Amino acid sequence: KKTDNQMLVIFGASGDLTARKLIPSLFNLYLAKQLPENFVVLGVSRSNLSDEAFRDRVVYESKYLKEKTKNLDDSKVKGFADKLYYEDLGDSYDTDYGPLRKRVEALKEKHDTSGNIIYYLSTPPTLYETVSHNLSDAGMNTQNNGWKRLIVEKPFGYSLETAQKLNKGLHKYFKEHQIYRIDHYLGKETVQNLLVTRFSNSIFEPLWNRNYIQRVEVTNAESVGVEKRGGYYDKSGALRDMFQNHLLQIVSLVVMEPPIGADAEEIRNEKVKALKSLRVMTDEKELFDNTIRAQYVASKVDGEEVKGYREEDGVDPNSTTETYAAIKFYVDNWRWHGVPFYVRTAKRMPTKVTEIVIHFKKPHHQIFKGSEMQEMDNKLIIRIQPDEGILIKFGVKVPGQGFKVERANLDFYYANLAETYVMEAYERLLLDAMQGDATLYARADEVEAAWEFVDPILNYWNSGEDVRMYGYAAGAWGPENADDLIEDDGYWRNPSEN
Ligand code: BG6
Repeated sequence: KKTDNQMLVIFGASGDLTARKLIPSLFNLYLAKQLPENFVVLGVSRSNLSDEAFRDRVVYESKYLKEKTKNLDDSKVKGFADKLYYEDLGDSYDTDYGPLRKRVEALKEKHDTSGNIIYYLSTPPTLYETVSHNLSDAGMNTQNNGWKRLIVEKPFGYSLETAQKLNKGLHKYFKEHQIYRIDHYLGKETVQNLLVTRFSNSIFEPLWNRNYIQRVEVTNAESVGVEKRGGYYDKSGALRDMFQNHLLQIVSLVVMEPPIGADAEEIRNEKVKALKSLRVMTDEKELFDNTIRAQYVASKVDGEEVKGYREEDGVDPNSTTETYAAIKFYVDNWRWHGVPFYVRTAKRMPTKVTEIVIHFKKPHHQIFKGSEMQEMDNKLIIRIQPDEGILIKFGVKVPGQGFKVERANLDFYYANLAETYVMEAYERLLLDAMQGDATLYARADEVEAAWEFVDPILNYWNSGEDVRMYGYAAGAWGPENADDLIEDDGYWRNPSEN
């Protein structure tokens, strides 16, 4: 695909995301010769930095680029660094962008980037509308002399109401087709591969429904705790931080109907439909029975003392923010009627893993007897990370007398395709936005549909002290009570099993 000449203006350029993700991704794109011929990055924030100081910070002295640049020719690194500029906004993002506009115009002339501009908002979300408003006041959102796009980072709202408000706020200054909402899970190859697995094969889709699938399980586990983000996390929690966005994105790709084509709108239309078909839980009993939240408590992990969540920096010692969430739900449509979905996400688990498990129904009539048959249901395991791949579990005969059945694996590992260069999530997403492809970005109605489902759960959890909050030892697979959720249907698959 062609990438137009353009400028990338990053608001919040002195922050962590710019140095950790954006610049390294751009650097990789530069090395892979994927950047357009005429291309400039203008970092904008409230720190007083010169162009040179900005380049030092995010390139020459950046710990995130050290490994990549150490064996490279200096001129190559300089070639990239020279594309970076910086503009100090002064004390506030809420200011006259006239001077910024002048700078943008001067750089545009100098580098002949044409009038195409991406504004990347890597600021706190409370500033999204402010920045958009000021861009508009300075006439910087007009498309007369080249396209303008806006990339925003999650969180997209804090609840359904705030998400709607945010969307409305942005829509005052930018059209929906100009807005790119990043969900970095959609940048992961294995998440995109869900579409390809489902819709480029003829062997899965005929089974992909209530007639053959007994239940669907999604596990997202992280071994880290809240790290240095206690302040942010305590206002967010697992449901907002991971479930509302990344996990419901995965769910929508599992649930969706086949789109008529691979165009951004066609795919996103089906995803919205899928999200709208999740059965919203409103009844208190339903919410009580189908949702579990928990916090990690101090424990020893690999011989080392690990703090409990409430002892973490920036976290309220009486916090009721969950670091673990497990939700059971149903999808009210023709395809999925009666199939339970179990989705869990947590910090401080034994390992880092994200996987989807499709459990198929047992054969209707079992002719091979034996206790081991209990374990013999067919599973399709889609491993999002790490050890990216797909595993099918099926029964085979153990050689010898009689018919003893054992479980065998048919597996595919992405690493087998190691020759191909796999772009990192941010690289892929940035390049897509630069090319105007919004397929892997969340649309306004998608975000709102996800909130419709999540809102009642959050409201219920925050409704009073008698709502259960379990504890689990840091480094364990969550609270034992989470097994109750799934009990009638078996157990959570332990992802460290093969
Ligand atoms: C982010 C969350 O969106 O995703 C973090 O805010 C979380 O809390 C991260 O750690 C997980 O991403 P990944 O790609 O490491 O699974």
